Order: sequence, then C-alpha cells, then structure tokens
Amino acid sequence: MALSIKRLTASAHRDAEAAVGRARPFASLGSYRAYLTKLHAFYEALEAPLFERLALLVPDADARRKTGLLEADLRYLGALVDPAALGRPRVPRISSPAAAMGVGYVLEGKTLGSRFLLEHARQLDLDVGRGASFLAGYGGRTGPMWRVYRDALEHVVVVGGRRAAVVAGALATFASFTRWIDTDAGGARPSGLGGAATESRAACPAAE
Ligand code: HEM
Repeated sequence: MALSIKRLTASAHRDAEAAVGRARPFASLGSYRAYLTKLHAFYEALEAPLFERLALLVPDADARRKTGLLEADLRYLGALVDPAALGRPRVPRISSPAAAMGVGYVLEGKTLGSRFLLEHARQLDLDVGRGASFLAGYGGRTGPMWRVYRDALEHVVVVGGRRAAVVAGALATFASFTRWIDTDAGGARPSGLGGAATESRAACPAAE
C-alpha cells in the first residue's frame, strides 16, 4: 500500500529533492543556516494544524513534532529568528483525517531520507545536539517510527478507503515544500507590514 503512495508521489519527491539540491544546504554553514530557517518556517506553519488531527490517528504523535528540533538547531547556530520574518509559506489546508495522514506521510518520509543527509552535516562539524538534531530525526528509532506510521496510513487507505485523499494531501505538501524552498526568502512578503498582519496564513487549495 505505502508502495503505491510512494509510486504515485515519486515525481513530486524528485521535485522536492531537486529543490533541496538547488538550496545547496551543505555548501557552507551560512547556507545550512538559511536552509534550516526555511524549514523552520514551513514546519511551524504546518505542524500545529497537522498535529491537531494526527494526535487522534497515529501512536506517538507528539514525538513526531519537528519544530522544536529545528529551533534547537537554529539556537545552537545562533540563527533562531521569528519565522514570520521570512513571510509565510503557503501550506496545505488540512480538511480531513485522510488529508492529514497524507501531509504526515511527507513529513515522516522526509525524516526517513534526512538521516542520509546527516553525514553531510558532519562535514560542517555539526551533529545531534549540535545543530543537526532535525536531520537525525528519531535516530535509532527511525525504522520503527516509520513502520508505525505506515501501519496507521494503511488503515486509513485500506479500511477507510481514502487513498485519493491521502495522495492529494501528500502531493499538496510536496508541492508546497518545493515552492517554499525555491522562494527567495528576501522576496517573500513579510507579515506584520502594510496590512499583512491581519491576513491569515494563506493555504494551498484544499488537500481533501
Ligand atoms: C536531498 C534531498 C533528499 C534525499 C537525498 C532523499 C532521499 C530519500 C531516501 C533515500 C528515501 C528512502 C529512505 C528509506 O526507505 O529508508 C526517502 C524517502 C522519502 N522521502 Fe526523501 N529525500 C530527500 C528529500 C525529501 C524531501 C524534501 C521530502 C519531503 C518534502 C522527502 C520525502 C520523502 C518521503 C515521503 C519518503 C518515503 C517514501 C516511501 O517509502 O513511501 N524527501 N527519501
């Protein structure tokens, strides 16, 4: 089952991977900081609405939150800023449990792939607890955490018959991530200026 979601989102994964490549996060400490700052804004925007739903759907939901890890890494690097300073990413609107599971699939899968990037961070003298905790994710628990998520996902897809909504949620998340990473942070509209403070965070077309 998870295999078919992987297949149906493979090209979106390639796009997201390419965006990370363009950001060149490991070219220098400066670009690593800039990349993490982008990730922080993205996770901060997405995790609150996401975990409202996931708490009821997935075991260990709270342990899956990543915003805190990103904040710890940025604090270590002396680069923690209010994510609003970059402008707000457009994140998927989470309108159903199945959409939430699709959004969560992308973030959990990213944790799976991120551990391979830890080696690159080590070249910059970073590690778990020293600026690269986000990349390390669940450490030795990564495999089991993924399998638990995959089982919960399978339940929603097979028992709930909600494959299309899960895939739509995943595709919207990949697209939103890729667009945000490709956005020039300097060009993003800062909130709190020119009336934008009253504007609620924009959402992508419903990931229903
Ligand atoms: C340089 C960037 C990236 C690399 C090298 C990479 C690499 C990988 C690798 C090797 C896996 C398989 C891991 C395993 O089976 O143990 C994986 C899975 C996955 N990655 Fe990435 N990834 C990258 C970026 C991303 C990004 C930016 C996202 C999301 C925004 C993402 C989402 C996923 C998902 C959802 C899976 C799970 C696929 C499945 O098994 O169903 N990846 N990635």
